[in-house]
Amino acid sequence: MTKDGTSLAVDPIQLISSLFALLPLPVAITDNHGKIILANSSFTDTFAEIGNLDALPHHELEVAGGGTYEIETVPLNDQGLKIAYGVNITNEVLLRRQMVHMEKMAAIGRLVSGVAHELNNPLAGILGYAQLAARADLDPATRRMIDVILVQAERAGKIVQNFLSLAAKNEPKRVAFRLNDIVRNVVQLREYEESVDNIVIRLDLSDDLPPATGDPGQIEQVLLNLVVNAEDAIADVQGQPGVIQIRSAMEDGNIHLSVTDNGSGIRARDMAKIFDPFFTTKDKNSGTGLGLSICAEIVKDHGGELYAWSTYGSGSTFTVEMPVRASAMEEEARPETVGSGESLRGKSILVIDDEVHITELISDVLVRYGAEIEVAGSGVKALERLKDGSYDVVVCDQRMPGLSGQRLYRLVESLNPKLQHRFLFVTGDVVNAQTRRFFTQEGVQYIRKPFRIQDLVDAIEGVLTENQLQGS
Ligand SMILES: Nc1ncnc2c1ncn2[C@@H]1O[C@H](COP(=O)(O)OP(=O)(O)OP(=O)(O)O)[C@@H](O)[C@H]1O
Ligand SMILES: [Mg+2]
Repeated sequence: MTKDGTSLAVDPIQLISSLFALLPLPVAITDNHGKIILANSSFTDTFAEIGNLDALPHHELEVAGGGTYEIETVPLNDQGLKIAYGVNITNEVLLRRQMVHMEKMAAIGRLVSGVAHELNNPLAGILGYAQLAARADLDPATRRMIDVILVQAERAGKIVQNFLSLAAKNEPKRVAFRLNDIVRNVVQLREYEESVDNIVIRLDLSDDLPPATGDPGQIEQVLLNLVVNAEDAIADVQGQPGVIQIRSAMEDGNIHLSVTDNGSGIRARDMAKIFDPFFTTKDKNSGTGLGLSICAEIVKDHGGELYAWSTYGSGSTFTVEMPVRASAMEEEARPETVGSGESLRGKSILVIDDEVHITELISDVLVRYGAEIEVAGSGVKALERLKDGSYDVVVCDQRMPGLSGQRLYRLVESLNPKLQHRFLFVTGDVVNAQTRRFFTQEGVQYIRKPFRIQDLVDAIEGVLTENQLQGS
């Protein structure tokens, strides 16, 4: 009988066995010892090697043709016969693997950011004093050595910052940023791998790009994924020098960022699938197939688009196209001022940091510009001084044991609100969401550790100018 009560012209046994045979789901019948006594073709195709389910070590199986199945069983009768069927759980397993990987990365991220914070202080010292030394009259050999220290300390500082911004849990942001800076960050992050793998990175960056708008951390993640994919594609081709070209340009009113490699290229039949989640041609230990789908999603969130071109056998190009937002244009129109430090002369500045070499460095720098410096080695000592004295600028470390810079700032509010506007924070902690929120909500000025002398001087001049404008 069918559902509406009419009788079938075919033999029901024949119908059921045809259904069983044609069912795309792998199904089998087992006896009371788990031995397979009947299986449809989907089952024998998928699990060619299995004869007895009870002999399996577990019910999650990776099959020869790729993919993971879970075998479920339901009792068929009271003599122990069972129906067994396989459920394709490949995507769940990949997702689980990705989750474990992400959790591991988050743990490593926390570890690395702790180490990176600790490195910021010594780096600020090395960089600062190397810059001061570089201004002295030096013989050529010493100058060369100082220049090497300078370049390498700056490089170490950038690597630390890159790690910190990668490790930070990025809340999606919408800020104006320079795409070329992101490119340089990513190149620096991969520098070591490229040199080990003999890959040359060529940059062709347009000098007159307007600022991009969005979350620089996410765009960095996109570029990093594209570069790692390019490295993998190059590794697949033996015996030729690998080249990755990264290009930025304005085209048809949009910002274009492209990554071109001379790697394996993509087969025409795969082109339509590469942006699909879980599509990968890499082995399970090296690829989840989520990279490009996440990249495409991020770029779409930024109002842009991610395209791919490829010729199988000769390489690929991936291009991120992003719109320029009006607000970003306005932001760029504002001129940037580089101060001479002239306005520091005669100004009284309180420098607060628990690291002696940082207060010494900042004092050494500012004294050369004719400023009058007082130093406090902790938040508490600073508070005492702020109660009595008045300062034109307060240069304050954000992270200090006891009374932190942020809490000191709050206490100053009741003491002398005008003083609050004279704060300049020095911090290695701007990737911490809470710190960032504090800086943006309060509109407080800050510079990052390690800093260049010119950045410090410019920032102090900025605080002085702002206070003059407000007449405080
Ligand atoms: N530059 C490239 N050259 C050749 N093939 C590429 C390139 N970029 C991506 N592909 C192809 O697209 C597939 C999907 O890429 P995707 O970044 O999404 O995942 P994956 O790299 O395989 O894994 P994961 O990113 O998780 O490590 C890759 O497996 C590869 O076949
Ligand atoms: Mg990838």
